[in-house]
Amino acid sequence: MRSLSVILPVLTFLIVLMGSSVRADSPEVELGERLFKDPRFSYAGNFSCVSCHFSPDDRRGYADFEARTPIPRRLEDSHLPQLTLRNTTALIELFWGEKAGVPNLLHSDGEFQTPEALVIAGMTGRNMGWLASEKNQALTKLAQVARLYPEIASSSEPTVTDDEAIQKVASLITAYMRSLEFSKDEQGDFNGSPYDQFLKLNHLPEKPNPGEPSKLYGERLRLQIEGLERDGKLQWISQGPQGERMARHDQAFRFGAAELEGLKIFYSTPPAAPARAHHSIGNCAGCHAPPAFTDFRFHNTGASQEEYDFTHGQGSFLSLVIPEAAQRARLTREELAPFAQIPDPSDPKKADLGAWNQVPLFPNGPDLGHLFGQLFETLCNFIPTCTLSQWRVYENEVLRASVGAFKTPTLRNLGHSNPYLHTGNRARIEQAIQMYIPMGLMARQRRLRNADPEMAGVIINARDIGPLSAFMRSLNEDYE
Ligand code: HEC
Ligand code: HEC
Repeated sequence: MRSLSVILPVLTFLIVLMGSSVRADSPEVELGERLFKDPRFSYAGNFSCVSCHFSPDDRRGYADFEARTPIPRRLEDSHLPQLTLRNTTALIELFWGEKAGVPNLLHSDGEFQTPEALVIAGMTGRNMGWLASEKNQALTKLAQVARLYPEIASSSEPTVTDDEAIQKVASLITAYMRSLEFSKDEQGDFNGSPYDQFLKLNHLPEKPNPGEPSKLYGERLRLQIEGLERDGKLQWISQGPQGERMARHDQAFRFGAAELEGLKIFYSTPPAAPARAHHSIGNCAGCHAPPAFTDFRFHNTGASQEEYDFTHGQGSFLSLVIPEAAQRARLTREELAPFAQIPDPSDPKKADLGAWNQVPLFPNGPDLGHLFGQLFETLCNFIPTCTLSQWRVYENEVLRASVGAFKTPTLRNLGHSNPYLHTGNRARIEQAIQMYIPMGLMARQRRLRNADPEMAGVIINARDIGPLSAFMRSLNEDYE
């Protein structure tokens, strides 16, 4: 009896320890991961999802290190792009928005309404070496390789059809991607980063109240912190679960004065009274809504305009001819292609207009309630008085509002997804934030084409870059 009473607590301790360090994946998720890493689906058997979406073992949040990634070469089509159109995005916590009821569109231009559709398109597209003309061949290969997995081949009787095998791959990889989450506590609140720990230690609100706009929550949080500071009660974080340093990031696990200064700028919103205007105002939470630090919606920050102007000269993006709704509806695929391309010194028609390329236009009216209208609806929300039922009146305005708009990326764990922006042209966090100095100014001066309304409220200067970057780094974490 005595020995058991000694062993039991030790055993319980060991089990708890194992439970917290080893992620127990379901068989479905494990199979999804194997499919994600399987190069046999690609044209030449040499590319898989993980070729561009590296795992945390490489200190990546399922992104890579490239600004734009070289795609498999095909000699037949040497005139085709040799690089991905955009920077490879990180894949952690992609589906958090569903809980908040936000349409779950994927790719930074909102191309895909479901992850399953993205998987099938990805498996049979250029990223895996397939040419557009080889769709059927690619789908057949997808089904063939899928059947090599006994779990898929025997999942239906007597034999799995091609279509069933393909759908199975899509749903398994989706299950795997859904499992890529940041650390959370029992309540489902984020708890892995120094920022999260700082909020918990000081009993500060970790997320907006239901229905509370993120900017109001940010202001409330900031005022509450300033109250604790005045009373001398604010406590810092100088240690994490792994000690003073982070295991997967080259930095201390800390939330101190510099991080707090950044937090305050981040959550500052444009002043009601101009008297406060001399303070820096990040207005960042207007789009990077806590606690996921994205609103999963589409905004134009000027990143496309900046790259285009860099290629063709200051102000050139303002005079780029962009078709209106009626005109766009008549253009062929080839005529539309230049609006989703990397700017090119030898061809000023090439630009990346982001969500503009995906906004559905409705010859017979939007299919209300159907996913296809989601992007339209999301953008319509930004236009005062716009309603879906009056789609014909607002069609053009919605299309215009989508020029240069991209999905807000999360700011969690940026340490594993550099370089930044859809252009990948910012190597460091400091450089990514630097963009907001001229872009805020240009928005106020109306020199930013289709600037998002929130951009005019971003008033920061060179002194703010350090603290804001420290704050961004406090959102890094050692997730599994
Ligand atoms: C050649 C590189 C490459 C390969 C291979 C690749 N991807 Fe991607 N992936 C990208 C790029 C680039 C983006 C960003 C696209 C955009 O935003 O327009 C992306 C975006 C995504 C997104 C969207 C994330 C978001 O925030 O909306 C998902 C999901 C994704 N990839 C999953 C996959 C899966 C699953 C596979 C394998 C079938 C795969 N990728 C293969 C380069 C690649
Ligand atoms: C109008 C909405 C909006 C506001 C306001 C805003 N952002 Fe962004 N942010 C975005 C979008 C959209 C992107 C992606 C842009 C792109 O790639 O074209 C982005 C990208 C970033 C990135 C790069 C992330 C990555 O993974 O590539 C950082 C860092 C960033 N923002 C920080 C900030 C900070 C700090 C502030 C406040 C000073 C701020 N943002 C204000 C919408 C916004």
